[in-house]
Amino acid sequence: MSGALDGLVALISGTGGGLGRAAALHFAAAGARVVGCDLDIEGHRQTVDLVRASGGEMDGPADALDLATAAGSAAWIDHALRAHGRIDILYNNASAARFAPVDQMTDAEWHFTIRNELDLVFFATRAAWPHLAAQGGVIINVGSTAAWAGTAGSGKIAHAAAKGAIVAMTRQLAVEGAPLGIRALSISPGFIRTPGTAPFLQREEIRARLVANIPLGRPGEPDEIAAAAVFAASAGASFMTGNDIVIDGGALAA
Ligand SMILES: NC(=O)c1ccc[n+]([C@@H]2O[C@H](COP(=O)([O-])OP(=O)(O)OC[C@H]3O[C@@H](n4cnc5c(N)ncnc54)[C@H](O)[C@@H]3O)[C@@H](O)[C@H]2O)c1
Repeated sequence: MSGALDGLVALISGTGGGLGRAAALHFAAAGARVVGCDLDIEGHRQTVDLVRASGGEMDGPADALDLATAAGSAAWIDHALRAHGRIDILYNNASAARFAPVDQMTDAEWHFTIRNELDLVFFATRAAWPHLAAQGGVIINVGSTAAWAGTAGSGKIAHAAAKGAIVAMTRQLAVEGAPLGIRALSISPGFIRTPGTAPFLQREEIRARLVANIPLGRPGEPDEIAAAAVFAASAGASFMTGNDIVIDGGALAA
């Protein structure tokens, strides 16, 4: 495989499915050596098989890693260094959230969301930072349109707080990283069709309500996020840092 990311070592979290699987396939097709990981080790292994079957290069730790612990994130970074000796791209995609109305969200649901949407990005970034700085590199964090707009009845109080923090953290990383040759961008998807969101789309009344708020009249596809991420990681985006790239079919514009 060869392309915009030829020979670069790209770490992508959450490669067990959804947007992480699509990203692994796109990054490998662009020539990157992909290092994935996930709590869902079976899903991650299937992604490795899919990437290799398409002619790409991908590996990852043999066991499930919880990136929301400092030790789990450090083990992932160590694996990449042992396997490839360098890190060029860190794509912080993995996350998990709990949803509930403000007055019904429990302490446990709040902390679960902050831990699995925010802590894991910090831990992985901190562990990768000196290795990105060694030759220059790119961090891509996955935010959400929830960082920018509230949604009635969505129960997104913790998710919105965490994703808003991701966008703010990305700006800080960009400023701290610039003298070291590290660029940092976030990508904020709107509503994307994934295995996780597919059940909502099967129910016509819910699909119609979700799509009514999207000017392009449909959910996005994982490939449409992954393609933007490949560009963000490539030399073509060399003057982009600190920005949030919203990919939402026009939802925030409407
Ligand atoms: N799908 C959408 O419509 C949408 C919209 C906006 C933002 N996003 C964001 O895109 C990213 C990917 O979303 P997705 O829809 O593919 O979700 P997903 O649930 O299908 O995939 C996320 C993966 O992250 C893994 N993960 C979660 N916590 C982890 C941890 N602590 N350690 C290791 N792995 C962990 C999960 O096991 C899962 O495989 C997330 O950051 C999500 O918030 C998705």
